[in-house]
Amino acid sequence: MLESSKIFLTTTNNINPDVAIILGSGLTNFFEKKDVLHSMSYEKLPDFPQPTVQGHAGKMVLGSVHNRKTVCLYGRSHIYEGHDPKTLANPIRVLKDIGCKLLIVTNAAGSLIQDMTAGSLMIINDHINWSGHNPLIGKNDERYGPRFPDMSDAYHKFYRDQLKEIAEKNDLKLFEGVYCMYSGPNFETPAEIKASKIAGASAVGMSTVPEVLVANHCSLPVVAISVITNLAAGMNKTKLSHQETLENAALAEEKLINLIKNFVRDVKFDDTSRNN
Ligand code: HPA
Repeated sequence: MLESSKIFLTTTNNINPDVAIILGSGLTNFFEKKDVLHSMSYEKLPDFPQPTVQGHAGKMVLGSVHNRKTVCLYGRSHIYEGHDPKTLANPIRVLKDIGCKLLIVTNAAGSLIQDMTAGSLMIINDHINWSGHNPLIGKNDERYGPRFPDMSDAYHKFYRDQLKEIAEKNDLKLFEGVYCMYSGPNFETPAEIKASKIAGASAVGMSTVPEVLVANHCSLPVVAISVITNLAAGMNKTKLSHQETLENAALAEEKLINLIKNFVRDVKFDDTSRNN
């Protein structure tokens, strides 16, 4: 067990949250104040890389969603910040160590589909790793998972189907597609966007894939949702900026948070599969 996991469990009197959530760029408000049980800065968690990007707070917050214990990572680190990709594995392994049964990953992303405009939500059903990096490279940590992890159901259909059902019940339009990861920090070129489209992607971004690889390695089931903040490079005349990402992510925040809270309330866990 990682040191940060021990610190978390000691601080919370051994609370094992059921669900973990990672909030992406521009998403800052998950819990209402009254629902927060503990809040820990990543600075107190020795295994956590420290985020350096605006819009990523850097704290691990334990709270309650409709009486279900939930832990939320407010902000993440990215490969483009210069972290050793291996260290990006640690927060995910902490979530596994403390007993989470499901990980919900969110991100801000550019859209490759004309109709999927800023403010749309897209559930990720698969990914393409064009980042050139992988946090699992190096000596395998057998305590967490196998050398060659399977990725054929990386965004677990069992949970994806439930999330889609809950969106439908709430009359919320949820796109679905493949997420293509680039390392960043630059936005993609129009030629890269065309290549991603030909390869079958619907959205592009600079995060999520490392976390999903590590979660699958340690048998922590994942669902992931992209908040579309812009049409990708070359798809309209405006230049891309991080400011636009933050502003448009904030516009979609409320509907995303509501969707996740409904999902956390209603989700049925698959206790038979995938857990070690
Ligand atoms: N590309 C990569 N990452 C992003 C984008 C984009 O267009 N929008 C938000 N994050």
